[in-house]
Amino acid sequence: MSLFDAGRLGLLTSPNRIIMAPLGRARADTLSREPLPRAQTYDTQRASAGLIVSEATHVSPHSVSRPGGAAIHTTGQSLAWRRVTDAVHGAGGRIFQQLFHLGRKADPGRLAGGALPVAPSAIAARGEVATPGGMRPFPVPRVLARDEIAGLVDEFRHAGVLSDGAGLTTRRMLRVFMSAATRVISTIRFCRSRRRRWPEAGPARRPSSSRGLVSAPRVAVD
Ligand SMILES: Cc1cc2nc3c(=O)[nH]c(=O)nc-3n(C[C@H](O)[C@H](O)[C@H](O)COP(=O)(O)O)c2cc1C
Repeated sequence: MSLFDAGRLGLLTSPNRIIMAPLGRARADTLSREPLPRAQTYDTQRASAGLIVSEATHVSPHSVSRPGGAAIHTTGQSLAWRRVTDAVHGAGGRIFQQLFHLGRKADPGRLAGGALPVAPSAIAARGEVATPGGMRPFPVPRVLARDEIAGLVDEFRHAGVLSDGAGLTTRRMLRVFMSAATRVISTIRFCRSRRRRWPEAGPARRPSSSRGLVSAPRVAVD
């Protein structure tokens, strides 16, 4: 067997076993966060891969990074992604979308109304964030209230629906990859950013809230 043999990933059949890793290339419109035509060009040029995993795509207006990062929480963004998907499919390729939320690493300088990024506990990420005013240490995030978790899961569900509508094979591939929600799950799971103990989340087992984050997009589009 070689990398160039056909393969199967869940329901997906691919002509080879080469998977393009997700790569943020800052090719989305700064304001609308819709992928621009040059994002379409980038992915289409790589359509001969067995599978393209899209750049990490923000599921929420509360997940914002430096300009150029793409999102999928509005219909306009979904339509723009549809153009990327159609172009990749037209070139014979396959593309799956990586959905994510930056959690405590969201850029506070670009969040509406000067809101703070959210996280499981009030622990700043290490390092610096590129804000409109230059490099700044990550701020201490706002602690996510328990009753906000359902809303966050719903953002992933909604993004899953929009992604599926854009033809990004999310439903098919979620059975294989659990890349959706990785950032939030890691902030919930790993003690470096979680000091609180939720009733459903003992330190030794995976919190049910992270299972919800992973399954929400799949359940929504099943
Ligand atoms: C410019 C650039 C953008 C990236 N964007 C993402 C991303 O959006 N999502 C992600 O999970 N990983 C991202 N990565 C990580 C890559 O997908 C890959 O995992 C990383 O480069 C390690 O690959 P390597 O072990 O072959 O070097 C990015 C890496 C680079 C260099």
